[in-house]
Amino acid sequence: MKSFNIAVLSGDGIGPEVMAEALRVLAAVEKKCGLQFQFTEARVGGIAIDVDGEALPEETLRICRAADAILFGSVGGPKWESLPPQKQPERAALLPLRKHFGLFANLRPAICFPKLTHASPVKESIVSGGFDVLCVRELTGGLYFGQPKYSREENGDTVAVDTMVYKKSEIERIAHIAFKAAQGRNKHLTSIDKANVLENSVLWRKTLTEIAPQYPDVTLAHLYVDNAAMQLIKNPKGFDVILAENLFGDILSDEMAMITGSLGMLPSASLGLSETAHGRFGLFEPSGGTAPDIAGKGIANPIAQILSAGMMLRYALGEPAAADLIDAAVLRVIDSGLRTGDIWSEGTQRVGTREMGEAIAQAL
Ligand code: IPM
Ligand code: MG
Repeated sequence: MKSFNIAVLSGDGIGPEVMAEALRVLAAVEKKCGLQFQFTEARVGGIAIDVDGEALPEETLRICRAADAILFGSVGGPKWESLPPQKQPERAALLPLRKHFGLFANLRPAICFPKLTHASPVKESIVSGGFDVLCVRELTGGLYFGQPKYSREENGDTVAVDTMVYKKSEIERIAHIAFKAAQGRNKHLTSIDKANVLENSVLWRKTLTEIAPQYPDVTLAHLYVDNAAMQLIKNPKGFDVILAENLFGDILSDEMAMITGSLGMLPSASLGLSETAHGRFGLFEPSGGTAPDIAGKGIANPIAQILSAGMMLRYALGEPAAADLIDAAVLRVIDSGLRTGDIWSEGTQRVGTREMGEAIAQAL
């Protein structure tokens, strides 16, 4: 029997309650697919600040290092918002995890299910029938990590500096991920940049154009990021895969998530360089945050966390058939009319976090 070690980092807010449902579904996968999961829980984010004095304790890193994959909930909340920025859970846990494990490739599918288009804030005529766009975001370069980075007093003024830097090799490796993703989908890749202003983007566009002939079955288009922000709202169905550097991808992936209307349904994968025996080491987390306003009430949508467990099976553990089963079970439960509050509409059945998780495990 194949056995996997999973580091489970539930974090704060709704993290633990939606994680419980993902683990429930994985337990159903174990039975159904003859796999075995060894779950090791570790503290991260605000809870780790409270208990261990830091957002990413060494013990948590050790558990992650020993794992085949990291299943992550979410971190942060009002309790820790008054801490200095560098100490806040989001920055002090998520960014070091990405850097430590070299998680350079962030896959954020933005899927608007045909039955859930009512939840989108965009006009029905634009989203009718749903859409499926994959955002590939570079995750360990650009303004987030470039040096120098500081804020200091200079000649009676305060100066803050962030540095945007990309090496060609960093652009190449994420480009290959995006081209390959497009090959497995509708074979259209839109690369995002700001090549009319930024040197980084000139190199980005040049590198993408150079690599394109290696993927003759994929059409490549380039869009300036400001124009992309408009086109995504005007015609989301016109996109297949979009590729962006770190900050542009951060912004556009939130825009995409909002257009789908159901942030609580969107998973993500952050993949590293190292190819393991099964796939790529990675961290898998919902695209949404800790939702402190509804935390502890048992009403959060667990589907993003459950689909993140599916992405883990697909990309890190080399079990695509099991991932397909999870995706299909989620679809079946949506089709059956079960809805958490965030995606509820007249004529469907409102359920809580646990009922949704149980229904999906059952459907498996
Ligand atoms: C995200 C988040 C993070 C980011 C924050 C919490 C540091 O917005 O994963 O998109 O900016 O990458
Ligand atoms: Mg973001």
